[in-house]
Amino acid sequence: MTDDQNGSAKNIPTAVPAAAPAAVPVAVLGLGLMGRALAAAFLRAGHPTTVWNRTPGKAAGLADGGARPAASPEEAVAAAELVVLCVSDHAAVRGLLDRLDAAGPGLLAGRVLVDLTSGTAASARANAERVAATGGGYLDGVILAVPPAIGTPEAVVLYGGAHADFERYAPVLRRLAPDGTTHLGEDHGLPALHDSAVLALMWSVLNGFLHGAALLGAAGVDAKAFAPLAARSTVTVADWLAGYADQIDAGAYPAEDAALGTHIAAMDHLAEESAALGVSTELPAFIRALAGRALAAGRGGESYAALVEQFRGPAPSAGPGGGE
Ligand SMILES: NC(=O)c1ccc[n+]([C@@H]2O[C@H](COP(=O)([O-])OP(=O)(O)OC[C@H]3O[C@@H](n4cnc5c(N)ncnc54)[C@H](OP(=O)(O)O)[C@@H]3O)[C@@H](O)[C@H]2O)c1
Repeated sequence: MTDDQNGSAKNIPTAVPAAAPAAVPVAVLGLGLMGRALAAAFLRAGHPTTVWNRTPGKAAGLADGGARPAASPEEAVAAAELVVLCVSDHAAVRGLLDRLDAAGPGLLAGRVLVDLTSGTAASARANAERVAATGGGYLDGVILAVPPAIGTPEAVVLYGGAHADFERYAPVLRRLAPDGTTHLGEDHGLPALHDSAVLALMWSVLNGFLHGAALLGAAGVDAKAFAPLAARSTVTVADWLAGYADQIDAGAYPAEDAALGTHIAAMDHLAEESAALGVSTELPAFIRALAGRALAAGRGGESYAALVEQFRGPAPSAGPGGGE
């Protein structure tokens, strides 16, 4: 990934912080599994790192590595230029913002707060407005990585917020994701939306794998035997995405590979095999219902990407084609 999804990475200065990047003092609020990994990555890069956690004791290992434990979030913020929050959810973030507000005006002014806590787009935008009112900068981010990947080329962290704030601290933020630090634009809600989109993809792929494993398991085939074929098929499907994305963006779905009608015949086999083996038919029924609605809308001769129209509005409660 590049630093800027809009392809303007070349416009991003490589080192804008007033001090050399490693000299930028950072604070990490929230030392759960992820917060500790974030703080450790800053420490490894040589940043003066102040840490705080609601429940004392979690800073011990980090302190051994040179982190400075703070007695309160206010103290941690006061010690840093860039403040990273990583707590359970946005309700906890709002609680922390309340506490920082109560500390008096000016605490966040001139600092940039980076919230890497998972939440919704609306909540991220509301938090951004709150912080802006204090004179502070705010970037919302989402982490698409597990804690051990933080600081490695596998980590991906997406950010939304003012270009100036991102550009100023991009060299510091790259400590967390050296090859996967991406600015999605000024909308603070976009990272959370991307997170939801990726989660929809992840759970759909996993549900497909689990259904397949259940189907084959009913016939005595181990999941381990299925896994290589499943992985290979996942890569094959991944190769279709760019072409289907072009069709979705163009709003035209020519069946260059297989028509939806062809898929539907195979969907019926899936439902039949599942029922015959006593395996749940929920997933096959859901897949078939979407395709049935597209068929009823006259899209049987179009590509699978035409199904995007079925995702664009609320699900029908019932009705013609809905249960097909
Ligand atoms: N772990 C992952 O693989 C992963 C991957 C991507 C994104 N994330 C996101 O990263 C965030 C943190 O995840 P995690 O794995 O670090 O969770 P975690 O291990 O359960 O840690 C949660 C942290 O939030 C703190 N916290 C909870 N409620 C709080 C409150 N009201 N006020 C202050 N602090 C509070 C906890 O403090 P206490 O110690 O006092 O309970 C703890 O430090 C979540 O939003 C998660 O979705 C995690």
